[in-house]
Amino acid sequence: MIRIHPSLLSADPLNVGQALAQASSADGVHLDIMDGHFVPTLTFGPWLAQAIAAASALPVEAHLMVSNPEAHLSPLTDSHVGRLIFHQEATHHAHRLCDEIRRLGALPAMAINPGTPVETLGDLFSELDMILVMSVDPGWGGQAFWPGAVAKVERLRQLGYAGDIEVDGGIDDQTAPLVVAAGATVLVAGSYVFSDRSDPPSRIAALRQAAEQTQKGRR
Ligand code: DX5
Ligand code: ZN
Repeated sequence: MIRIHPSLLSADPLNVGQALAQASSADGVHLDIMDGHFVPTLTFGPWLAQAIAAASALPVEAHLMVSNPEAHLSPLTDSHVGRLIFHQEATHHAHRLCDEIRRLGALPAMAINPGTPVETLGDLFSELDMILVMSVDPGWGGQAFWPGAVAKVERLRQLGYAGDIEVDGGIDDQTAPLVVAAGATVLVAGSYVFSDRSDPPSRIAALRQAAEQTQKGRR
């Protein structure tokens, strides 16, 4: 089954609780934490993540677009954020970071930017709960999908990675089938789900339908 994880980055910041309720038919909630250093943009940190995780009936994951992710783990795991996704480009010690995230009771996942080759991940396949292939350069919602992500997902499967592959950036009902056909199992969508703030449930349903039709064709 394909899992849909709406990114609250594109939700109305004054009505995050409402956005959470509108996303209840999804499979998880994706929080984009940006530090103004690893990426140019600043968003929010554990303070808001904690409130969202406490209010969410769905599993919550944090996408850490931060330098020095090691410094930000326990405020999030203490807040019941169940999966921490760090960037390979942001750490020298990915293996140790995975261990530390598990020790704190969460699941470790690793994200890679468009410029990072998938071949560098092989030695860590067994440590990772999930791999996040970025289909935009991180930093903003609403960017156009980068088609090179499709080949990266295919390559990860060719290399033998059998776990979940999440794709993040520019996902909509047109691009979701491309990455699902390549082997992705989890889709992050921000602007597609929340740009029409009156009807996120229909967008989630449309994304799920587009993705699952493709997955059936793939079997
Ligand atoms: C981008 C973030 C994404 C973003 C996706 O840096 O990691 O999660 O919210 O937004 P859309 O779906 O609008 O590309
Ligand atoms: Zn993200």
